[in-house]
Amino acid sequence: MIGRSKSPAYRSVSTRNGYYCTCVAFGGIQWYYFQTHLEGTRDRGERNDAGHLTRETMALLFDPLPIRSITLKNRIAVSPMCEYSSKDGFANDWHLVHLGSRAVGGAGLVFTEATAVSPEGRISPEDLGIWSDAHIEFLSRITHFLKSQGTVPGMQIAHAGRKGSTQKPWVGSSKLSQEEGAWVPVAPSAIAYSDKYPFPCALSKEGIRGVVEAFANAARRALEAGFRVLEIHSAHGYLIHEFYSPLSNHRTDEYGGSFENRTRLAREIVSAIRKQWPEHLPLFIRISATDWKEGGWDLDQSVELVKQLGPLGVDLVDCSSAGLVPDQKIVAGPGFQVPFAERIRRDTGVMTGTVGLIETKEQVVEILAKNQADLVLMAREFLRDPYWPLRAARELGHKISWPAQYLRAAPPDTPAREPLDVETFKAKV
Ligand SMILES: Cc1cc2nc3c(=O)[nH]c(=O)nc-3n(C[C@H](O)[C@H](O)[C@H](O)COP(=O)(O)O)c2cc1C
Repeated sequence: MIGRSKSPAYRSVSTRNGYYCTCVAFGGIQWYYFQTHLEGTRDRGERNDAGHLTRETMALLFDPLPIRSITLKNRIAVSPMCEYSSKDGFANDWHLVHLGSRAVGGAGLVFTEATAVSPEGRISPEDLGIWSDAHIEFLSRITHFLKSQGTVPGMQIAHAGRKGSTQKPWVGSSKLSQEEGAWVPVAPSAIAYSDKYPFPCALSKEGIRGVVEAFANAARRALEAGFRVLEIHSAHGYLIHEFYSPLSNHRTDEYGGSFENRTRLAREIVSAIRKQWPEHLPLFIRISATDWKEGGWDLDQSVELVKQLGPLGVDLVDCSSAGLVPDQKIVAGPGFQVPFAERIRRDTGVMTGTVGLIETKEQVVEILAKNQADLVLMAREFLRDPYWPLRAARELGHKISWPAQYLRAAPPDTPAREPLDVETFKAKV
C-alpha cells in the first residue's frame, strides 16, 4: 500500500548470497527487513540442474485465469493507480494512453485508478469519477482499446471517506483551502485522519444508504462503459475500511461496535453491487488485511470478513494493507503482503490477488508456484516498464502475442494479438 502521507520509502538491494535487504524509511523511522530469496522457499516450482526455475514453471506467469465467464490471458494485472489528472471526474487522453500502453504491454487485466462513486468521495478534485452517466462515453473508448489488445478492462470504484478533500500529492496532500474547492468529507465518525486532513462529518443512516446506492449506480455505469471486472476499494483508510476498523469507527448504532456492525457497510455494498453487476462477471474487493497498529483491524478479522463476502458474490480478494492511521508500523519488504493473500486464500477458499513490492518474474512465479495467490498485481514496476509482460516472456523464451504493428521487433514466430472475444471474454495469449 502506498499511503499519501508519510508514505514509506523503500530501498531494495539483492545481494549475491540470495538475500534481499530492504530499508524502509517511514515517518522518520527506518526498519531493515531481510528476506530469503527464492532458494529454499519454493515447494511446487521445479528447478533444473543449475538450480534455476525451469521454463515450464516460469510459464505459470502466462497461465490463463478463468473467473466466471471471463478468462484473463495471464496472471499479471496492473494495480489501480490514481493519476489525479481529471477535471470534474472525466477521463481524458492521459487515461487512454496510460491504461492503453499497459494493455499494449501485455497485462491480462488493467485496472483504472480509484474511481469516485460520488463527488465528495474523491480524494482530490482531480480524481477520476463515475457518478454521472456523462462519464461513460470516454471510459467506453478506453475499454474498447484495452479489449483490442486482448486485455480485460477493470474498474476500481471508491469512496475516499475522511481522506477526501485533499490536494493531489505533487501539490502537497494537505487539506484543500476554500479557494482550492474544499468540501466536507464524510466518515463513520467525526475523527480526522491527521491534523493535515479535513475534519469529517459522521454519516447519518440516510447518508449511508446514499453511499450504498452510489456504489450500485457506479457498478451499472462501469458495466455500460465496457468494464468486465469490477473492484470495490475497501482498503487504504478510505470509507469502507474506515467503517470496518475499530480505530476510525466509534459509532454506537448498527454500523459500529461489534465486528458484525462494523462490516455491515461492506456487506451492503457488495450485495447492492451484485444486483447491478451481472452474475457472469467477476467482482473483486481490495482490502487492507491489517492496520499495522495494535487494537486495529487485523488478518484474523480479514479472514472472517472474506468468509462472509465470498457467498455474497466476491470472487477475488485483492490483499493490500495499511493506510488507516498515520502512526501505523509497517514492516515492508519484497512481497511483504503475500502472506495475507496466502492465509486468506487458504482459510476461505476465495481466490486472492497479491500486491506490494513485487517486481521480478521470479517473485511472481514463486507466488504462483506456491499457490499463495491466483493473481499478481503490480503498480510502480508498471510505471517503470509498461511492457513488463512482453519483456518477461521474451526473456523466458515463452511465446505470447504482440500487437501486429510491433511484430517486426518481436521474437521469431510471434503470433499477432487478437482482440478480446466479445462473446466469451477470452483473450488469445
Ligand atoms: C501512483 C500510485 C497511485 C496509486 N493509486 C491507487 C489507487 O487508486 N487505488 C489503490 O487501491 N491503490 C493505489 N495505489 C497502490 C498500488 O495499487 C499498490 O497497491 C502499491 O503501489 C503497492 O504495489 P507496488 O509495490 O507494485 O507499487 C497507488 C500506488 C501508486 C504508486
